[in-house]
Amino acid sequence: MSAEQEEKLMRIGVSLPSNLLRRFDGIIKERGYSSRSEGIRDAIRNYIVEYEWMSGESGERVGVVTFIYDHEQRGINSELVDLQHHFIDVIRTSLHIHLDESNCLEVVIVGGDAKRLRELTEKIMSLKGVKHVKLTTTQKV
Ligand code: NI
Repeated sequence: MSAEQEEKLMRIGVSLPSNLLRRFDGIIKERGYSSRSEGIRDAIRNYIVEYEWMSGESGERVGVVTFIYDHEQRGINSELVDLQHHFIDVIRTSLHIHLDESNCLEVVIVGGDAKRLRELTEKIMSLKGVKHVKLTTTQKV
């Protein structure tokens, strides 16, 4: 792809919950972005960097998968339980905290092949009702 093609701006339409957009707008204002578009471009770049970092991980790792989800989302609790049973080979322990009426925080300590940890993280990310997922890893050196 030429630099010219890369710089060509495409317009997209995105539907977002109003409270998410309001919070996003608050952040871009606070951070001094000149426009909402600039903030969205930056957020997408960060998303790509994060994904590529995760994809590049290999070998034995220990880590933590942290995520927040809406337990009122139909089926989410049983999906999460099924998923964690399926990944019992890499899950060491987990901690569940009820944050408020609808939000739960879960912290899962993992260990094993980085590919398997990534697979678990991506499966959690793809569940409807999961709002934020973060994988952090380290290794014995
Ligand atoms: Ni809970």
